[in-house]
Amino acid sequence: MRELQKIDFLLRCGRSRGNAVHLIRLKKLQLNMPTLESLLREERVFYPSEELIEKSNIKEFMEKRSIKDEDELRKKALEDVEWFWSEMAKEVGIEWFEEAEKVLEWNPPYVKWFIGAKYNIVHDALDKQMKLRKNKVAYIWEGEDGEVKKITYGELYREVNRLANALIELGIKKGDRVAIYLPMIPELPISMLACAKIGAVHIDVFSGFSPIALRERINDAGAKVLITADGFYRRGSVVRLKEDADRALEGAPSVEKVIVAKRVEFDVLMQEERDYWWDEATKDQPKECDTKIMDANDMLFILYTSGTTGKPKGVMHAHGGYAVGTAATLKYVMDLKEDDIYWCTADIGWITGHSYLVYAPLILGATSVIYCGAPDYPKPDRWWEIIEKYGVTLFYTAPTAIRMFMRFGEEWVEKHDLSSLRLLGSVGEPINPKAWYWYYKYVGKERCPIMDTWWQTETGHFLITPLPTTPLKPSSATKPFPGIEADVFDDNGNSLYGKNEGGYLVIKKPWPGMLIGVWRDPERYFKTYWEKFRNVYLSGDAARVDADGYFWIQGRLDDVLSVAGHRLGNSEIESALVSHPAVSEAAVVGKPHEVKGEAVIAFVILRKGYYPSEKLKEELREHVSKEIGKIARPDEVYFVSDLPKTRSGKIMRRLIRAKLIREKIGDISTLMNPEALILVEQAIEGK
Ligand code: PRX
Repeated sequence: MRELQKIDFLLRCGRSRGNAVHLIRLKKLQLNMPTLESLLREERVFYPSEELIEKSNIKEFMEKRSIKDEDELRKKALEDVEWFWSEMAKEVGIEWFEEAEKVLEWNPPYVKWFIGAKYNIVHDALDKQMKLRKNKVAYIWEGEDGEVKKITYGELYREVNRLANALIELGIKKGDRVAIYLPMIPELPISMLACAKIGAVHIDVFSGFSPIALRERINDAGAKVLITADGFYRRGSVVRLKEDADRALEGAPSVEKVIVAKRVEFDVLMQEERDYWWDEATKDQPKECDTKIMDANDMLFILYTSGTTGKPKGVMHAHGGYAVGTAATLKYVMDLKEDDIYWCTADIGWITGHSYLVYAPLILGATSVIYCGAPDYPKPDRWWEIIEKYGVTLFYTAPTAIRMFMRFGEEWVEKHDLSSLRLLGSVGEPINPKAWYWYYKYVGKERCPIMDTWWQTETGHFLITPLPTTPLKPSSATKPFPGIEADVFDDNGNSLYGKNEGGYLVIKKPWPGMLIGVWRDPERYFKTYWEKFRNVYLSGDAARVDADGYFWIQGRLDDVLSVAGHRLGNSEIESALVSHPAVSEAAVVGKPHEVKGEAVIAFVILRKGYYPSEKLKEELREHVSKEIGKIARPDEVYFVSDLPKTRSGKIMRRLIRAKLIREKIGDISTLMNPEALILVEQAIEGK
């Protein structure tokens, strides 16, 4: 109530409308929670088993240093982050070519970790493993068609070296960008490692993205080489990826050479002197290749992610800190040990796959599963079958997948023996209690704790997450990882810690995997993350912290949708829509969706001479799919003749969304054309 009065006061003052609108939004997020069937309030606390605690890596770490519990560890780590992260680097076995002179240099908004250290992440992920685990399986790969490959560290090393030599022959040098547009085949991690090995920067583009999205990223990054594949299987049919790559390259002049991996073996057009088959390019290459000695702060990769503008931003990560942060969190959160069989289901084209399917597990010498195919193909038990078949012990997936499997029913899970599992993970969006219980009960058999890991493309690794020793509250990502100082701020930068009030989720101290900038856009880097609260990282998420210090993530505060755990900018989809000749203006908003978390809903004003029809709706959906990728395809399209706007002409998505989900619309004092809201409502009601 006090909060509502505060909002009212701010509005009446007319002083800080922006503040008031934000507070309303934050408040709504919080107030909405219990009203949604899928977000039931949950008070129960789940304790990890004694056995798990006793054998956990984190317990061992604490015992060695006479730290009595995780709260003391968090305290100690925050008192001396340099000590903590140096210890982590040792514990995950990082081998620097030359040791750092200094652990941390923080010149806001830029950070450097392990300053002066000479390093290459591929040394730890691969070269070192030749001594330690040459014959251990690094990847168990399974294709949708049932094909299986087991790739040892030794084999991976050879293949990476061969490709690295081929890239050198094609003229790739340190700092050059190489775009990777591959499905989940072994060539994908091999390509990333080969780039990193010679000091090149990889830019993965998710294979579900359209040619236009690929082209945009290639052009922004100025990639010289593209690595792709002929195609891949999805639900039994063939996706002709090379054709999409060719379309992208029609407008991407920086790409000089293309390497094409064979997965499906059908006729593809190869452009002479530009395109090379993977096998031909690599077969005569030496099995050894020197690993480029880099500075620990040299760039490792760029990964594009959606932001508030139509243009995706190129998030940059460096070798050293990223290696330490990803490996440490995998070891101490997912509790990875030498004989685990670990499966992270994320596509490598996204950050989760980069960090937790490529770099961290390889640094730790793990055996990981990679599955290339639809999760429910040919039947809804494909994933459970894989867990049983390979004896997966650690399983890391997304709430959207869990909700999909819930819909198929637990009978599909119960057909399989999942007793090998000992720990589960979740990422990408808040896991609603209903999905949490289902995952806990049917997959984990009430034995396996769920690590609900909060992080982002920008953070590189988990920041807020349980440890295996943490009591769990379903739907809470619990507490910051040691060394991470997270908080929730009100609009004026006052801490709301422990007050259980919604606010801006911020990180107050730099962390090792922190992005090193936005590619060729330092201003955007500063404005997006550092401008609002000086020297404090603004995550873009809303959250609250309860009296026990547990963080409850409430979703994005900026204009970013979370569809099936993936970030999509509202304006990115709007730009795609207005690029269609029939569309003059568009507004895109999210609507709660039982499986995907959010559905994409588009409101469209047509140009003169175009008329609403079901056919045009379908055409627009298809158009977005072509422009961005299937993931962005609107679930619904409404035709309207006007959209609610502010006096400065900005479309008020907030009001459209409120109408769509039948919420109170709140403050409309900045609305220029109230009649447009009625039109939106009529369109929704089908009038
Ligand atoms: O809104 C948060 C949500 O996903 C966003 C980051 O998206 P992306 O950079 O694509 O990375 C996804 C994988 C790390 C965050 O701003 N998010 C991620 N994990 C969680 C989450 N929301 C709630 N709980 C989580 N565990």
